[in-house]
Amino acid sequence: MNNFHTPVLLKEVIDFLRVKKGSMYIDATLGGGGQSEKILELGGVVLGIDVDEDAISFVKSQKSTLRLRSGQEIKNRNNLTFALGNFKNIDKIARLKGFNKVSGILFDLGVSSYQLENPERGFSFQKKGPLDMRMDKSLSVKAADLLNILTKGEIYELFSKLGEERFAWAISNSIVRARGIKPIKTTEDLVSVIQESLGKKGRTSAFERSKVAKKIFQSLRIAVNDELNNLKEALPKAYTLLDRRGRLAVISFHSLEDRIVKNYFKEFEKKNMGKIITKKPIKPSIYETVENRRSKSAKLRVFEKT
Ligand SMILES: C[S@@+](CC[C@H](N)C(=O)[O-])C[C@H]1O[C@@H](n2cnc3c(N)ncnc32)[C@H](O)[C@@H]1O
Repeated sequence: MNNFHTPVLLKEVIDFLRVKKGSMYIDATLGGGGQSEKILELGGVVLGIDVDEDAISFVKSQKSTLRLRSGQEIKNRNNLTFALGNFKNIDKIARLKGFNKVSGILFDLGVSSYQLENPERGFSFQKKGPLDMRMDKSLSVKAADLLNILTKGEIYELFSKLGEERFAWAISNSIVRARGIKPIKTTEDLVSVIQESLGKKGRTSAFERSKVAKKIFQSLRIAVNDELNNLKEALPKAYTLLDRRGRLAVISFHSLEDRIVKNYFKEFEKKNMGKIITKKPIKPSIYETVENRRSKSAKLRVFEKT
């Protein structure tokens, strides 16, 4: 565990990947490197990809101290290769780095705790900051831009499809009204618009309000980073990188992401490309959800190439 991110379903992922000394693995969502660290500890050779330069810098800095979080030394420090990039290009990135055939690939989707907790990044409705939400800082469109550019209908669609939010219409109405007075620029601006529109609906419970805000923020994040399309592009490419008996493990935190993973794995199996290892998604134990609240909605699915 570190301050950057606590890895979710760590033991389960490592067990399913059956990490072997000297074998190659791709961590497509490096984050704070929690999962990669374990693979390295077991002797695996890892390519760590992240689209967020802060994640790459963080793990590089950890590596340079030659310390594992447990306090032991990283003996195999040359076994970790970094790549700043989007996993939708996983095939190109992997080949460029010499990871042509690998024994396992992990996608641990969504945001890291660091991204959520850092007010400057604008991911959380609980932190005051610019309404940014870009994981890739070179993207040109931020969350605030979307809210100020999209039509009311488009905003509604975004909140109802990606957020499955029943107050989507009321909130998009309030956004369009508010931006007519002054542009929505910060997380606070958006939170107060959400509060206002829920107030009109007579929704006063703080719990309900924060649930709605969370869903609205999450749906904006998914749109800004084009998360569902990235995943759709990445999974078939990841499959091509697997060795025979290589495994693809995906942890998702959103029902639409999980559906994409489930459908791809079913399709792969139908085409005799391998077998689904997890008939039902693996969920964190009650202990893990108590220890780490963010693990609560995690679902792990694993596929093996044959
Ligand atoms: C949940 S965190 C991963 C945490 C990591 N497994 C750990 O244990 O520390 C997700 C990470 O994936 C990265 N990410 C999200 N979408 C990405 C994409 N399309 N390409 C590459 N990295 C991505 C995020 O920037 C974030 O750092």
